[in-house]
Formats: sequence, structure tokens, C-alpha cells
Amino acid sequence: MIATHSDAPEAPTSAPKAGTPATEVADGAAAGGAGVPHVVGRVDDVPPGEGRAFVAGDVQVAVFRLRDGSLHATQAACPHSGGPLADGQTDASVLVCPLHLYAFRWTDGACTGAAPPVQLFPVAEQDGALVVTV
Ligand code: FES
Repeated sequence: MIATHSDAPEAPTSAPKAGTPATEVADGAAAGGAGVPHVVGRVDDVPPGEGRAFVAGDVQVAVFRLRDGSLHATQAACPHSGGPLADGQTDASVLVCPLHLYAFRWTDGACTGAAPPVQLFPVAEQDGALVVTV
């Protein structure tokens, strides 16, 4: 279980983890949603159970690869106070911001505490590439 805002001490901060620049998918093969799909890197750039920051078009995103192999993507900056969400901890249910430990649900982006929701983005693997639609 991941500690959340209400039951754990403040986590130490660390430098953001760099990703690679995004490349728009030329053929328009969508990962889902109504936005524009962008190749942001390789699935292997994100270790299982961790997140990494990338840029999709002009949007900074945080992509997570859960230990079950599923992928999730959010805005890179926490809506509470700009914390680096790519450095957060996650499980199958929530992403926990490393700054003040608010938790955000993967299902809808809603915060389990008092912070505004995070924006979620469709993300998929295509031949080993990470494709985020923003
Ligand atoms: S910046 Fe405060 S919980 Fe993320």
C-alpha cells in the first residue's frame, strides 16, 4: 500500500527524471481519445513501477508503467502546487505526489484529498514506442 497525504511523512524531493523529446505520429494512429498522438519515447525508458517525464507536442506529461505492465499518463506538474508527478509513487489504484502526498485516482484523476484533479491522457505502446495522446 502506498502512503498518502493523510498517513505518511513528507517524502524527500529529487531532480526530475528526464525523458526524450516527443515526435508526432505521422500516420495519425491514435492511442485513443480525440487529441493528437505523439511518440514520446520507448516503453523501456520507463522502468516497471516507476514514472518518467516526457514532452508530448507542447504538453509536459508523466508516464507510468505499472508492475502489471499497464501504462498511465498524467500532466507532469501536480495540480496542488506543481510537484513533479513523474517522481511520485504509484500502485494499481493511485498516483501519490512526492511533495505533499496527495493521491490521485488512475480511474478519473480525482484527488482522494482536497487538491484539484490531475488531467489524464491516453497512452499506449506501439511496437515498443510510447504514444501519448494530448
Ligand atoms: S504539489 Fe502538493 S501534493 Fe503535489
